[in-house]
Amino acid sequence: MRNNTAVIGQPVEHSISPKIHNFWIKENRIEVGEYKKISLNKEDVKSFLEKCMVENYRGLNVTVPHKELAFELCDQASPMAEKLQAINTITFSENKIIGDNTDPIGFKNSISSNNQAKYIENKKVLVIGAGGSARSIIYQLQLMGANVVNANRTENKSEKIKKSLNINFDICSLQDISSILKEIDFVVNTTSLGINGTNNNLVDFDLLKENSYVYDLIYNPKRTQFLINAEQKGHQVQNGLQMLILQAAASFKIWHGIDPQISDQLIKSLE
Ligand code: ATR
Repeated sequence: MRNNTAVIGQPVEHSISPKIHNFWIKENRIEVGEYKKISLNKEDVKSFLEKCMVENYRGLNVTVPHKELAFELCDQASPMAEKLQAINTITFSENKIIGDNTDPIGFKNSISSNNQAKYIENKKVLVIGAGGSARSIIYQLQLMGANVVNANRTENKSEKIKKSLNINFDICSLQDISSILKEIDFVVNTTSLGINGTNNNLVDFDLLKENSYVYDLIYNPKRTQFLINAEQKGHQVQNGLQMLILQAAASFKIWHGIDPQISDQLIKSLE
């Protein structure tokens, strides 16, 4: 019986995935070991996966910076993982490493269908940042029918996403954000600005279309200054905690076959 699960990455110390998965393991009385966090250097990922295979691991979550490497090490990948060339979920079967990516579905499920219809479908969406999270989110937004504009400090990273995903979207510089805000229905911050006392001043919320929706992927702090500023100007706001929980829920379902509950008790235990 394959019993172990864990998250691998570097750094991984601050990951709250163990709290989420262990809460559900207990709640659903699943007879598996504790979900762990394991810090790994790039050079050690391959041998660790081989070890997991023989040590009867059931699955792993993969976080930065190993998502692309883990994709390369998989024997089989889901269509979403193939498209993104990156994975966040590994499942060990009899003799195969199977890769999946639950980030896009986690993002989609974190937004109510009402808000998807109101702010995303056929609407203009600004995604700030062009790292791994932005890649998943831009692709998912396209699937949801949004017209995406991507702005990043390093502009050629936006071009790279466009090429590798083979999709079409607009690109603008961080300096040009102000000039397009009046047409934007939904803003997603995927940059790390707002963590560790840094501030995100990339959006002047006075210029943003009235009653827009502003999403910051950061969940610690719970309310970044970015979200506080947006809310003060009357925009609807959301942090990244729901996405984190919902991508975990999708991994949990893959491994254990159970749709876990997103209870208030769980959310309270994470805040
Ligand atoms: P993740 O996997 O969470 O997306 P990442 O791949 O490290 O993390 O991406 C971080 C993003 O934050 C990038 O878009 C980065 O911009 P660059 O591509 O120019 O590096 C952005 N970012 C980080 N610090 C920033 C800063 N001080 N100003 C603007 N953007 C910043």
